[in-house]
Amino acid sequence: MTEHDIAVIAGDGIGPEVTREAMKVLDATAEVFGFRTRRTVYPFGTDHYLATKEIFPDAAFSEVKQKHAIFLGAIGDPRVPVGLIEYGVIARMRFDLDLYVNLRPVKLYDEAFCPLKDKKCADVDMVIIRENTEDAYTGSHGFTHKGHANEVAVQTMVYTRGGVERVIRYGFDLARTRPRKQLTLIDKANAVRAQDLWTRTFADVAKEYPDIKTDHAYIDAACMWMVKNPEWFDVAVTTNLFGDIITDLGAMIQGGMGIAASGNLHPGSVSLFEPIHGSAPKHAGKNVSSPVAAVMAVSMMLDYLGEKQASVAVESCVADLLRSKRIKGVHTGAHPTNEVGDLISAEIRARASAAV
Ligand code: IPM
Ligand code: MG
Repeated sequence: MTEHDIAVIAGDGIGPEVTREAMKVLDATAEVFGFRTRRTVYPFGTDHYLATKEIFPDAAFSEVKQKHAIFLGAIGDPRVPVGLIEYGVIARMRFDLDLYVNLRPVKLYDEAFCPLKDKKCADVDMVIIRENTEDAYTGSHGFTHKGHANEVAVQTMVYTRGGVERVIRYGFDLARTRPRKQLTLIDKANAVRAQDLWTRTFADVAKEYPDIKTDHAYIDAACMWMVKNPEWFDVAVTTNLFGDIITDLGAMIQGGMGIAASGNLHPGSVSLFEPIHGSAPKHAGKNVSSPVAAVMAVSMMLDYLGEKQASVAVESCVADLLRSKRIKGVHTGAHPTNEVGDLISAEIRARASAAV
């Protein structure tokens, strides 16, 4: 029996409760689809930092590197300086494990969830690929005359030909697997001149994919089109920072942060799966947060681990439970957190026993 070795970092705020539900669903799929998971739980996050001053020790990091996949609940807590735990945990994994693709599907499962007028499920079905190792996130930064009236703050945006090319290539390959075969480049090369590297690399790589229809939008216009005509997008590839921003917008048009999931991938190596939402400290421990995004991250993780049937089963059970209103919604307070994982797991098991 295949065994998948998974690191689990539940993290901060609502992270532990949504992770608990996601793991229930993972267990149900393992049982039904005949594989095993070996899970190692790591305590990293703000509580652990406050108690021990430890963020992500090197020994644990080396261990995590050996796993097949990592599941992360959420990271971030206002009790510690901004960015400390984010950079020490999530960003460290993205950069040091070279997880260069941040895959963020934006798919509407029930038109009732869409805040846009007259949009159907078929109109909102795209994948945003966010470059995940460069840009303002890894450019150097600094301050001079700190605290003075003439203080200067600098942050550089870094793009490398190799870094840009590999993520664009991933975009073309993904577009090829989808019926519409379309890839849109989203950038701001008209103002951020260094992004001309994206323009040129996209054009070069496109020559190798004559079967893929290419398109381009500046990030500001892309935000507008995504709200006005989301049906124009199939696969889109963009920079790290723009990808961060536009995928929150994407999450809203598919129903909100309670449903949006992502995979941070280095194809062929250990990769990380997480809901897009943050740690929402004010809702922590109240059993009001939607674990559906975390469950959808499990579906993405299963797909990555080669458990395709299990992945599809999770996605279709969630979609059906949402459409039939058995899960009452994905906004905060819509449905008690602890019941959602039970409902999805029960549905997965019920379908399996009906099929035999
Ligand atoms: C995300 C988050 C992170 C990011 C934060 C927590 C650093 O917003 O994964 O989208 O900006 O990448
Ligand atoms: Mg974000």
